[in-house]
Amino acid sequence: MADKQSSCSDWLVPAVCVLVFGVLGSAIYFQRNPAKPPLNPPAPIGATKTSDSNPHSSRPQQEAFDGYVSSANCRECHEYQHDTWHASYHRTMTQVASTNSVLGSFDGVTYTLPRKNETIHLSRDGNEFFARLPRYESLQYDPPKDSRGYPIVMTTGSHHTQAYWFSLNRQTDRSVALLPMMYIKADKRWVPRESVFLHPPEFTTSAEIGRWNKTCLNCHSTHPDTTPHMDQQSIRFETRVAEFGIACEACHGPAKEHIALHRAAKQNGQAVGNDPIINPSELHHTRSGEVCGQCHSVHTTRPRENMIPPDIQKIFRPGDDLDETRMVVMARGERRAFVEKVLLDGGVEVPTYFRDRFWDDGTIRLAGREYNGLIESACHTQGEMDCLSCHQLHKARKDERTLKQWADDQLSLTGMGEQACLQCHEQDQFQTPKHTHHPPGSSGAGCYNCHMPHTTYGLLKGIRSHTIESPRVEQSLRHKKPNACNLCHLDQTLEWTAKHLHEWYGHEIPELSDDHQTVSEAVRGLIQDDAGVRSIIAWHLGWKPAQEASGTAWIAPHLALLMQDPYDAIRYIAARSLKRLPGFERSSYDFIANAGERESAILDSLSVWQSTVRTNIRNHANVLLDAEGNRNIEKLSQLLSTRNNRPISLQE
Ligand code: HEC
Ligand code: HEC
Ligand code: HEC
Ligand code: HEC
Ligand code: HEC
Ligand code: HEC
Ligand code: HEC
Ligand code: HEC
Repeated sequence: MADKQSSCSDWLVPAVCVLVFGVLGSAIYFQRNPAKPPLNPPAPIGATKTSDSNPHSSRPQQEAFDGYVSSANCRECHEYQHDTWHASYHRTMTQVASTNSVLGSFDGVTYTLPRKNETIHLSRDGNEFFARLPRYESLQYDPPKDSRGYPIVMTTGSHHTQAYWFSLNRQTDRSVALLPMMYIKADKRWVPRESVFLHPPEFTTSAEIGRWNKTCLNCHSTHPDTTPHMDQQSIRFETRVAEFGIACEACHGPAKEHIALHRAAKQNGQAVGNDPIINPSELHHTRSGEVCGQCHSVHTTRPRENMIPPDIQKIFRPGDDLDETRMVVMARGERRAFVEKVLLDGGVEVPTYFRDRFWDDGTIRLAGREYNGLIESACHTQGEMDCLSCHQLHKARKDERTLKQWADDQLSLTGMGEQACLQCHEQDQFQTPKHTHHPPGSSGAGCYNCHMPHTTYGLLKGIRSHTIESPRVEQSLRHKKPNACNLCHLDQTLEWTAKHLHEWYGHEIPELSDDHQTVSEAVRGLIQDDAGVRSIIAWHLGWKPAQEASGTAWIAPHLALLMQDPYDAIRYIAARSLKRLPGFERSSYDFIANAGERESAILDSLSVWQSTVRTNIRNHANVLLDAEGNRNIEKLSQLLSTRNNRPISLQE
């Protein structure tokens, strides 16, 4: 996800930008390529070109090309794999809008964007969906050609949130634009798009015209062809993909030849020739990781020097060296130096670019970019860990979970628990209180909880970091990245953690400030640190293992503070965590209601909290309460007055 105004610089010099600025002006190109080369002839095997049902609703097309033939052609021989994939959220990432795909209600909905005072009308006519968007309609270009408004043509997402693309009805190209609101599935409600992502309050969204065609398709479709078509006057996006969503060939490569070989073998009893199909589990772990890394990473498409369309951008294929087509961005070492130079040349503010994607220690802070974590983990660089060490892309036949249970995170049976690590690390050495210092079976003894804590952010939650690391005080102290111990022991100070890490693992105890000795690290962070840290702590205040380790009687007033946060996403997360506290399940707070309504809901919650027993809170002073459970307002305000207000806009 990336919810930012489209520009060449924000996608870190994609091939398209190089093309627009580097090649468009060059007369040589037109001399060498007088005519647009024809598209590949339709594949004989099950070409699945979609056509526009409505000539006014142009949108990206699905079509068989480059030997890609689509999932419809696999089921005859791979029913099991087809059915397991069919249940996955990969399949439904990008869909043509229809009653089967659209989750939000369009049945005569009028929605007013709170901050913009802009009213949008949504409607449905059978299998067709429309939006009236006065702001865009009033612009001089691209008015809707249909009295019902702009046709909604595509959806993005199906698991947590769904975004909608409308057609600009352009005759000239297939660019689509983004509806200003999104649907949150768990809450069954519409919300402004900017509220779904972690953005400063002053952030506003645009229609992102052409953003899908240039950016989103790189990770949300199978074999995207981003080649723009040009004539002397203009540049057009005749965007096509082999398949909407993430389908078989995104991970297995083009299958036309594979099918031809097996059909021939079946029919003529011929031997199967050299089969080009790729099975990621049989690739070297580096190549296997790259199959997933083509999408699950912060990357930039490689600017290909001296290339002329249509080869301007070679498209990654499973089994390829990823680095040839997509350069994974890193915040450390030579890679960082290179990226910094590109950013500077493109006029992008370097510190902001990195801060919105990486923690200050260089590790990735975004969810959905797990490959960045993998390639910085010793288990991968010195061992053979890849995504398939823990994930399985077709549910195992012996796996008794339902397809729906498995589809949520697609973990293999091994990947669900400590077995994931014990494949490679000695059980005797690590799965023992001698190493974990917690009783077996305690949440504090789980490898994941100490080595892959929820320090990456996305989808309005904390998500497990995929950079395998061990808890260290310096993560919090020097880099302002919350450490695993204090994310579960929410009522303990950093000094407490430092002492135990010293006693248990021989880590040095660094010099610590008074606050680090007397105030719980989570409470200090949620008041004083920047929005990135606050969002992670807000989520942990509702995380069951942390509530069990830290008690819950003290948490509500801190969540009340976060429910007044200037960042919409933080208020959302805090309100959800509050509902996970005993006694607050029915809180009526709405994170995007007007300030007055929000305040009165917060006061209600605080009065509920005032009426609870608060006299035996274990570490009350750490969490800024006195022995009677009253708040230490003085300390609270002092920490608040030194809050780090640097703007954070996470590019998940
Ligand atoms: C670098 C690859 C990449 C790009 C580019 C990208 N996304 Fe995503 N997106 C992902 C991944 C990976 C996930 C899944 C994250 C997870 O499950 O933790 C995701 C998830 C999402 C979701 C949530 C889906 C759900 O089912 O809840 C939405 C919505 C989304 N992206 C929108 C967008 C939009 C809009 C764009 C273009 C502006 C975009 N993304 C660009 C990789 C990308
Ligand atoms: C006409 C039958 C047929 C069709 C259609 C077919 N396959 Fe296959 N496929 C096979 C057979 C048979 C094998 C087993 C080959 C073997 O064991 O060496 C196979 C094996 C595979 C493998 C595993 C390869 C390995 O090395 O482990 C993958 C991946 C695969 N197919 C993907 C696909 C995809 C994707 C499609 C659709 C786009 C598809 N197949 C369509 C017959 C077919
Ligand atoms: C997101 C990546 C991804 C997608 C999409 C995907 N696969 Fe796979 N496939 C894999 C991986 C990884 C394996 C290795 C075993 C595993 O993880 O389940 C695999 C294994 C296979 C195999 C070998 C037999 C087996 O189960 O191990 C076949 C055949 C296959 N896939 C066919 C398909 C077909 C057909 C589709 C689409 C209908 C598809 N795959 C979609 C990643 C994918
Ligand atoms: C073509 C791009 C692409 C490829 C290749 C890809 N993914 Fe994804 N993946 C996505 C996007 C986009 C999502 C978000 C889908 C959603 O959750 O709605 C996603 C979601 C996921 C999820 C979360 C599912 C959920 O919603 O709970 C897992 C786990 C995952 N991918 C693992 C993998 C692994 C492992 C591989 C490699 C074998 C892989 N992916 C290959 C783009 C891709
Ligand atoms: C050591 C095991 C392990 C490895 C290796 C691993 N994962 Fe994960 N992954 C997990 C666990 C555990 C979760 C979290 C499940 C949960 O939160 O309950 C997860 C969650 C995810 C999610 C879903 C996040 C969400 O909540 O939406 C995605 C996407 C994902 N992994 C992708 C990948 C990709 C891509 C790779 C390889 C680059 C990879 N993982 C490697 C264990 C692993
Ligand atoms: C496929 C094998 C493999 C898997 C799976 C694996 N590791 Fe590793 N891991 C290694 C290797 C090899 C090393 C490097 C040598 C060493 O330190 O033991 C390593 C190193 C480490 C380190 C030291 C990191 C550093 O930067 O020094 C930690 C901590 C670790 N692993 C924890 C885990 C945890 C926790 C899991 C499960 C979530 C896990 N590993 C899964 C192979 C693996
Ligand atoms: C996922 C949650 C979790 C994580 C992470 C975690 N713990 Fe614990 N810890 C617990 C729980 C639960 C207990 C209570 C013991 C039990 O399980 O019976 C506990 C108990 C303790 C105790 C003894 C009781 C006390 O409060 O004095 C100490 C000390 C401790 N943990 C320190 C740490 C340190 C240091 C780390 C990081 C290296 C850590 N824990 C990581 C959950 C966690
Ligand atoms: C309570 C937190 C905690 C838990 C639970 C935990 N570890 Fe660790 N682990 C650590 C710390 C802290 C270190 C770093 C020790 C050091 O600096 O020497 C570490 C180090 C490691 C290392 C690297 C060792 C080395 O010599 O470099 C591996 C491998 C490892 N752990 C594996 C595991 C596995 C496997 C599990 C689950 C069975 C596990 N850990 C559970 C805290 C934990």
